[in-house]
Order: sequence, then structure tokens, then C-alpha cells
Amino acid sequence: MKTILITGGAGFIGSHVVRLFVNKYPGYKIVNLDNLTYAGNLANLIDIENAPNYEFVKADITDGELMKMIFDKFRFDAVIHLAAESHVDRSISSPMEFIFANIVGTVNLLNAARQVWSDFNGQKFYHISTDEVYGSLGATGFFFENTAYDPRSPYSASKASSDHLVRAYHHTYGLPVVISNCSNNYGPYQFPEKLVPLAINNIRNNKPIPVYGKGENIRDWLFVEDHAAAIDLIYHEAKIGETYNIGGHNEWKNIDLIKLLCEIMDRKLNRLPGTSENLITYVKDRAGHDLRYAIDSGKIQKELGWKPSLQFAEGLEKTVDWYLANEKWMKNITSGDYQKYYDNQYVKR
Ligand code: NAD
Ligand code: TYD
Repeated sequence: MKTILITGGAGFIGSHVVRLFVNKYPGYKIVNLDNLTYAGNLANLIDIENAPNYEFVKADITDGELMKMIFDKFRFDAVIHLAAESHVDRSISSPMEFIFANIVGTVNLLNAARQVWSDFNGQKFYHISTDEVYGSLGATGFFFENTAYDPRSPYSASKASSDHLVRAYHHTYGLPVVISNCSNNYGPYQFPEKLVPLAINNIRNNKPIPVYGKGENIRDWLFVEDHAAAIDLIYHEAKIGETYNIGGHNEWKNIDLIKLLCEIMDRKLNRLPGTSENLITYVKDRAGHDLRYAIDSGKIQKELGWKPSLQFAEGLEKTVDWYLANEKWMKNITSGDYQKYYDNQYVKR
């Protein structure tokens, strides 16, 4: 039986990857390692928590000695590394947490893998990264796998740094690595500090929807299960040393996306058309706000046959339905310190 370590499996994307692997591959033992930060939530995995091929380990990847002990104990055949601090706004207010979790944490895992995989025989260290490492695009163009790195926020700089270190361990020590860089994900179980669940939650509760700057920044949105499917494919098919970009070819200006969400929510909540749009509130722009991200995912489409399965309209409907049906999940994670953090976030323009 193969034993696969998935880090950050209690978070948004990680929980979808864990669920997919546990259900699809009964012959793999999946170990989910997560230290349950504010963004980690075991309720995301309640449906598979008793599966015989699943085990949860609460541990912090910034603890290098502990990582070595855990690798020694489990003798993982592979690592899929998602654990990270993931929110750009938090990286602006608290950059050091991103340096520790995203850079030091990744190096600790690389060191532990290197120590245990002394013969490098069939193992794989798969590092999950973001398109934000490539910086910001103007009105045209796309990010390709060979686009030069140009990170501009503490979050993207910490992810870029971890990508470089993963490649350095491959080139220097021969560690068998694979990397993918994905665009913005949306879907069930996303912590409501990110745009889509935050807007859905605020609309439902008749609270202002904060739009940074003029709302003209563009993101390329991908349904989280399509990302998980790409990770499955890359994990199984990619050659060692390869990098793949993953994206939805689905660019939206923030303000247009928010208006679309308002329309869907008015319909779902039986509100008069236009009701939710009144909640749109322009607030001070994010410092250093990247204008546009857009991925060219031609390589993964051509080489591995991956493409997104859902149209955006369908994915958003599914997402809204999930949040409306899971009010308790939302209430639980937005209790405690969340509200305090959130209320201090925005300066109305
Ligand atoms: P998330 O914030 O929802 O989850 C991160 C998880 O990592 C949480 O469960 C948290 O508890 C855990 N974690 C954080 N620090 C840890 C530590 N020191 N030790 C152990 N566990 C720790 O993030 P997400 O949106 O699911 O993103 C997962 C990965 O995918 C990240 O590496 C992120 O950079 C990358 N990514 C995210 C997106 C996106 O749109 N969300 C897009 C591309 C890439
Ligand atoms: P976010 O979900 O934080 O993802 P990222 O910054 O990693 O792309 O933000 C998506 C876009 O939405 C980004 O351009 C910032 C903007 N935004 C708002 O306008 N209002 C908000 O309340 C949030 C959280 C984001």
C-alpha cells in the first residue's frame, strides 16, 4: 500500500484533494498533516474522517525536527504539499507568518523527504503553487510555465521562494519533484475571507460587499474540484522535474463577478432583482494590488488531456447552493476571532 502525505488537507483545496484521493484510491493510505490554523477545519472532511485509508496528524510544518520524526515513522512514498498561509491581505498585515509557513515549512518538508528517501526510487514531492508568482499582467497576455517570476505581494513572494527551493532541491540533490501553479479557485469549503465566499456570506446577511479600488482587477477563476482533478492527473502522470500551469480560461473583473453573484443570490433568496447590488461598497484598494492574472493551460491540456469540466455559471450556482445549504459550517468558522479581524479590515472610500 502506498502512503501519501497530503499537507494542508484541512484547508479549502486540500480538503477536496484529500476527499478525492481517499475515495478514488482505496489502495493508498492518505495521511493529512495540518496544524489547523484559522483556515484549517476538520469539518471539511467529516464525510471521510472514518475511512480506513485515512489518518489525520495535527502538526506544524515549521517544526523541522517534528517533520523528520513524522517522515521517519510513516515512510511516505509521496508528498502533495498544500499547507500554506494563503491570503494576500493577511500577508500584507503579517508577512512573517508567510515566511515561516510557506518558505521554512516547505524547506522542512524537503529536508525530511531528502533524509528518508535516500535512494530516490519512485517517490514524488509534488508542490502546489499559485499563478501569483508570475506577477501582474496588463490588459493582454497570459502566464506560461516559462514566464519569469515577478511576485509582488508577501504571499506571492513566499510562494515563489518555496517554488525556487523545491526546484533547487531537485537540481542540487536530485529530489524527485513536480510543481503546479494554479489560478484563483472557488467552490465549497473556502474560508470566507476570499472574495467569492465572502460576497455570498455578506449578501445573505445583508452586509456590505467590499470592492477593493474600482473593482477592475481581473482574476481567472477555476472550480476547486477541477483543480483537484488536475492535481490527481499531475500526481500520477507528470514526469519528474516538470511544471504545469492550471487555469480556467475564465477571466472576470471583480465587479462583474460580484454583480453576477448578486443576481444569483437575488434569485435564490427570492429577493427583488437589484436588491443585493445595493450592498456593493467600494473600499480602499489593496496595497500593491495585482491588476490581472490569466493562465495559459495549454501544456496540461495537450500533454495530460486535462480541461475544466464546469462552465463558470454552473460552478457558481453549485457554489452558492452549497453555502446556502451549509449555514452552520459558515457560522462555526466565522465565530470567535474572525468577526473582529473582519471588522477591522476595511476603510470605506
Ligand atoms: P487554505 O488557507 O484554505 O488552507 C491552508 C491549510 O494549510 C489550512 O488547513 C491550514 O491549517 C494549513 N496550514 C497553514 N500553515 C500550516 C503549518 N504551518 N503547518 C501545517 N499546516 C498549515 O488554503 P487553500 O486556498 O486551500 O490553498 C492551498 C494551497 O494551494 C496553498 O499552498 C496555496 O498557495 C495554493 N493555491 C491556492 C489557490 C486559491 O485560489 N486558493 C490558488 C492556487 C494555489
Ligand atoms: P482574493 O479572493 O483575496 O484572492 P487573490 O487576492 O489571491 O486573487 O481576491 C480576489 C480579488 O478580489 C482580488 O482582486 C481582490 C478582490 N477583493 C475585493 O475586491 N474585495 C474583497 O473583500 C476581497 C477579499 C477581495
